[in-house]
Amino acid sequence: MIIKFKLNGKNVAIEAPGGERLIDLLRERLNLVGTKEGCGKGECGACTVLLDNKPVCSCLILAAQVNGRNVMTIEGVESDARLRAVQEAFVEAGSVQCGFCTPGMILSAAALLRANPKPSRDEIKRALSGNLCRCTGYEKIFDAVELASHKIMKKAASK
Ligand code: FES
Ligand code: FES
Repeated sequence: MIIKFKLNGKNVAIEAPGGERLIDLLRERLNLVGTKEGCGKGECGACTVLLDNKPVCSCLILAAQVNGRNVMTIEGVESDARLRAVQEAFVEAGSVQCGFCTPGMILSAAALLRANPKPSRDEIKRALSGNLCRCTGYEKIFDAVELASHKIMKKAASK
C-alpha cells in the first residue's frame, strides 16, 4: 500500500510493504540513520521517534501505521526550535558520550518539554525512563533537560 504522512515537516508518499517496521523504512529506504536500533524489542528506546508529538519505539510500529500522521526524527531538529534547544543543551551539559542513545533521549525530552516546559527532576526521570544509556549514568542527561527547560522558558519570557 502507498502511505502518506508528514516526516520532519515534509509530505512523504511511499509504498510500504506489509509487515515493514517504521525503523526500517526510516533507516534503510529514507536514509534517516539518526534513528538507532538497539534491542529491536521495545526495551532500549534508541529507536525513539515522535509520532503525533508522542515518543514511540519505531522498532515496534509498522510503517503502515503512520499513514496520515506526523513523524519527527532527530533529522527534524533544524525545523523545530524546541528540539534544537534540547540538542544544544545536551552538547553544553556534556551529556553525549558514545551518542547511541542521544537521538532517542533528545526526542523524548523534547516531547516532555512540549507538554510540560518546566518539569521537575522526577518528571524528567519518568519521561526518560524508557530510554537506556550505558555510558553517562544519566545525571548529565537530566541536567541537559533542565538546561533546555531554562533556555525555553527564558526565550518565552523575552517575547
Ligand atoms: S531498538 Fe527499539 S526499543 Fe530498542
Ligand atoms: S551516551 Fe552512550 S549509550 Fe548513552
